[in-house]
Amino acid sequence: MRYALAFASAAALLAPLAFTSAAAAQDAAPQVERHEIMEEVGDAMGVLGGMAKGERPYDAAAATEALDVFIVQTPLFLELFPEGSETGHDTRAKPAIWEDPADFHEKGEALVAAAESAKGPAGESLEGLRTALGPVGQSCRACHEAYRAPKN
Ligand code: HEC
Repeated sequence: MRYALAFASAAALLAPLAFTSAAAAQDAAPQVERHEIMEEVGDAMGVLGGMAKGERPYDAAAATEALDVFIVQTPLFLELFPEGSETGHDTRAKPAIWEDPADFHEKGEALVAAAESAKGPAGESLEGLRTALGPVGQSCRACHEAYRAPKN
């Protein structure tokens, strides 16, 4: 439920950004928007990882909702790297993102694909969630290794 709410409010916040003019979108810095999305993605991973480790009870609905966060937010995240947002707001985005945007997008799409495949098994059993989470975590790491700088 908590995730359903978080997802609904994030969608409400982000939808206008995606669909209105560039002028209107200037209100929020892309560095801030993308940081917030990754925080939400990190929280969703915390829910899934907590269940996998047995630190929180397995909950099929919460697991699939957390995977939906990745599926919905990643495409929005990938659009928040315009020219001019390479630095500022303590961003941890590496310059390599702007050098090879196609590969960066591919790594984002890999996360969406892994999350899509994980939804069935993760919604069925804890064992399914544990197995499906491997490729999801791997897609986070692959992108971070290439495109996320260490914490300042
Ligand atoms: C397509 C590339 C990509 C994928 C896939 C990706 N991340 Fe990130 N992540 C980034 C980048 C780039 C940053 C730094 C963003 C910035 O500071 O502007 C980041 C930052 C973060 C942060 C720190 C918040 C911040 O901005 O300092 C967390 C937490 C995080 N990611 C979690 C995850 C998790 C969990 C997954 C997988 C479910 C994931 N990420 C998948 C690229 C990615």
